[in-house]
Amino acid sequence: MIGDTRYRIAEREDIVSFLTIERDVYAGETPWTFSHFEHEIMKNDRAMFLTAESDGRIVGFIGARMIPETASVHLSNLAVLTAYQRQGIGANLVIGMCDLMQLLGAETITLEVMRDNMIAQAMYRQLGFETTEILPDYYENQLDGLWMVKKLGALNDRFDKN
Ligand SMILES: CC(C)(COP(=O)(O)OP(=O)(O)OC[C@H]1O[C@@H](n2cnc3c(N)ncnc32)[C@H](O)[C@@H]1OP(=O)(O)O)[C@@H](O)C(=O)NCCC(=O)NCCS
Repeated sequence: MIGDTRYRIAEREDIVSFLTIERDVYAGETPWTFSHFEHEIMKNDRAMFLTAESDGRIVGFIGARMIPETASVHLSNLAVLTAYQRQGIGANLVIGMCDLMQLLGAETITLEVMRDNMIAQAMYRQLGFETTEILPDYYENQLDGLWMVKKLGALNDRFDKN
């Protein structure tokens, strides 16, 4: 629980709310379908979703996929209901996922973001992500993507302090 928002591991029952959030933030579109979410939450052992709840409703989510071969994690999806944006929920979801993944051994977090999504880019930069690559025509609408990376400190750095 951070502030009035509760963060927890996502469940299959959350997916309908995730689709509602997608429609809200993507002008009625759902880039991920029920099956995409279901696969990641129920079937993919290397994937995890977190849910943010406020006022008794689901207001945000974040997904990630572990890539053990490179000790890295890729953020797969993130959104916060418009009415609940700019309250720190998006940042808390990213921080929460990074902390969890660091505990599980991840050393690097990666993501891709549309080049014109200045809001998400501002948030990621504020959280320590840096752009390492431009991905030309990455998205279906021919928009470029940016590849962003954040190095997580070795977990021992934290524990060595005491
Ligand atoms: C990106 C998104 C998840 C951010 O969620 P949020 O809960 O509003 O984010 P936060 O309140 O934690 O904001 C964190 C930082 O993001 C930036 N930011 C957020 N909203 C912003 C806005 N409207 N204008 C400018 N910067 C903004 C700011 O740097 C902010 O830090 P600050 O409040 O200290 O200035 C949300 O805007 C969203 O769902 N967008 C649509 C889906 C999307 O783009 N997902 C990311 C795909 S890669």
